[in-house]
Amino acid sequence: MEIIHVSAECYPYAKVGGLADVVGTLPKYQLKLGHFVKVVIPMHRTKFLYEHEWTVEHKGGFMMGSNHFDYTIIKEKSNELDFDLYCVDIYGLLDRENVYSYDDDTERFTAFQVAVVDWISKWQHRPDVVHVHDHHTGLIPFMMKHCYAYSHLADVPTILTIHNAQYQGWMSWDNSNYIPTFDTWQWGLLDWDNMINPLACAVKCADRVSTVSPSYMEELKTNANGLEQLFKAEFFKCSGILNGIDTEVWNPEKDTYILDNYSDKDADAGKKLNKKKLCKDFNLNPNLPLFIFIGRLVGEKAADLLPQTISDSLHQIGNKMSFLILGSGDRRVEDQLTYLTGSFAGYYNSKIGYNEKLSHQMYAGADFILMPSRVEPCGLNQMYALRYGTIPMVRSTGGLKDTVIDFGEPGGYGIRFNHASVWDITYSIHRAVELYDDTEKMTALRKQVMAIDNSWEQSAEKYIALYEATQKK
Ligand code: ADP
Ligand code: GLC
Repeated sequence: MEIIHVSAECYPYAKVGGLADVVGTLPKYQLKLGHFVKVVIPMHRTKFLYEHEWTVEHKGGFMMGSNHFDYTIIKEKSNELDFDLYCVDIYGLLDRENVYSYDDDTERFTAFQVAVVDWISKWQHRPDVVHVHDHHTGLIPFMMKHCYAYSHLADVPTILTIHNAQYQGWMSWDNSNYIPTFDTWQWGLLDWDNMINPLACAVKCADRVSTVSPSYMEELKTNANGLEQLFKAEFFKCSGILNGIDTEVWNPEKDTYILDNYSDKDADAGKKLNKKKLCKDFNLNPNLPLFIFIGRLVGEKAADLLPQTISDSLHQIGNKMSFLILGSGDRRVEDQLTYLTGSFAGYYNSKIGYNEKLSHQMYAGADFILMPSRVEPCGLNQMYALRYGTIPMVRSTGGLKDTVIDFGEPGGYGIRFNHASVWDITYSIHRAVELYDDTEKMTALRKQVMAIDNSWEQSAEKYIALYEATQKK
């Protein structure tokens, strides 16, 4: 099959979160299954762009409202990522340093989508499936089916994968002229609550909808930031497929970012060395259990609960543990986390910002990773942690529920709690500290979690089955 993934992010070209990891990995596994895979993203100005050579594949143009935009499709020359990586360049719109958070994101991502559809419409053949990811690409199924200029693409099957339903790309109807001329009888497909809602539109128009874990799919029926009724109505074409991880990138035996490589055979010793180095760098005591958090400092991740949790744990349980936080996001949480370093020097430290290398060193050097998320469609951190022998402590929600079993349950290996509350997290830290003191149990758990297979193999096949179900006979 010829598959084309369209996304705002793709690792290692541009990464903000797990979406990049998925779009940078799933295609590799689909290639291994014998398919032809292309990935298309906007041409963000990242290091990867400048460090690689590109060839021009196509040039075109389109009207958006009263503006004309020229676009260029470029392709990475060396095929370093195995799959074909294409970028859309639209001068002045897409060639920016950050992926998101510009005032004109609506215009930027609409233009990106128009360029992608316009390019595909110029091919001599049609792809077997167009797989779009999240709201930034959510108008594509509609454009392919209902925009007059692209009506010859109407039969090409489209798949939407929802990585996060909290963000929906809401647009005012005043901007409806950004979308190429469409059959106005179909306006209702664009609409949700009197706004153009690209995510809702994709749920309505795509042939199949998936989300990144079965539990999250279930949760969307009752908690989908206003789209609950839509998910109930469209449930027949929705399914949950758990993300996997790139076991080549995330491999403690070969990881070049970490000080000492190790496997499940020498996990205790390997982790000890990595922890020693990490603790030295951040002025923490390597003899205490080390708890980490890595991620976007936003409400969904319950990052706002971290400062109080750290403070309460160190006061109530005593100085029996240390914490290291890596993340960026909400300014208030960033400031609180920075402020706290003064109060708990030697037991707590933080690094505000994005640092891929440090994240690997933390997965390798930590004993426990905290994930108290209020919403977690899948979550990759817990799976990376497992691979590095770090015990995940997760709230029972979404993909966290599907990938972590509490060590108190048969076959369990992690710590689970029910509420995103300071009390519940602190209580779990208490449990973790007790567990850490049982060195035999910790050794056994490390070995057990490192052997868990969360690779993409099975899920990549599930996506292929989903595509096959859409092929018109
Ligand atoms: P989300 O996509 O919601 O942010 P995921 O758990 O799916 O959450 O993926 C997060 C990814 O981003 C992981 O690869 C994680 O290691 C990485 N990450 C998040 N924040 C940072 C950071 N500040 N520095 C380095 N890596 C980070
Ligand atoms: C989103 C979700 C996260 C998921 C990731 C990759 O960012 O918040 O839970 O793991 O996408 O699918």
